[in-house]
Amino acid sequence: MNLTLKIWRQKNAQDKGKLVEYKVTEISDHMSFLEMMDVLNEQLVNTGEEPVAFDHDCREGICGMCSLYINGEAHGPDREITTCQLHMRMFNDGDTIFIEPFRSRAFPVIKDLVVDRTSFERIQQAGGYISINTSGNTQDANATPISKHDADMSMDAAACIGCGACVASCKNSSAMLFVSAKVSQFALLPQGRVEAVDRVMNMVKQMDEEGFGNCTNTGACEVECPKGISLDNIARMNREYLKASI
Ligand code: SF4
Ligand code: FES
Repeated sequence: MNLTLKIWRQKNAQDKGKLVEYKVTEISDHMSFLEMMDVLNEQLVNTGEEPVAFDHDCREGICGMCSLYINGEAHGPDREITTCQLHMRMFNDGDTIFIEPFRSRAFPVIKDLVVDRTSFERIQQAGGYISINTSGNTQDANATPISKHDADMSMDAAACIGCGACVASCKNSSAMLFVSAKVSQFALLPQGRVEAVDRVMNMVKQMDEEGFGNCTNTGACEVECPKGISLDNIARMNREYLKASI
């Protein structure tokens, strides 16, 4: 298929940036979206132009690095997949596709489609861990009974890959879905209860300091999340925060 791409080009954080139009031809519908971007970049390199900068690593939906805002949706038009798992069969010959970076004050653009998401790392560092020593003295899995229900919910929350699509989709740039997933995966397990009070207080404090907005229960984050993280986690984090506050 032949496509018109309107891509956000921005030299650096200070540059104003603008949408630039490109044409790509003979794109197979079996290609992934990032492979289509590779074709464009090869074309640009061959004509002596600067290739488009975009983030990617695993290309398997695991690392959370790919982060394109495609036709007004984080990770594009498909559901519960990342940009690297998006296939060109979701588009039609002759389509015009708008490709922008994830936009949020807390995710400043570094270059073109690459944004700085280290704010997520600082939130994680504020409490997204347990201090139990698990190196070399790990207990048998059956030594700490955990209900199947809690274990499943914790695993579901732990599926968050920290991509930031929830922030990019939210009209308030709220990071509540991400932070609540990280709080929930520990809050549901006995190993995580030890530091539960400090964890939720510190992670929420860091989230606010990074400049993310508040949650107004719009639910766009849940719709666009590639890992199906549920809004229930936000309700759980709010309960954890209230308990910790008193
Ligand atoms: S909650 Fe979903 S959208 Fe947000 S960072 Fe985690 S995986 Fe990405
Ligand atoms: S490149 Fe790793 S999730 Fe897309």
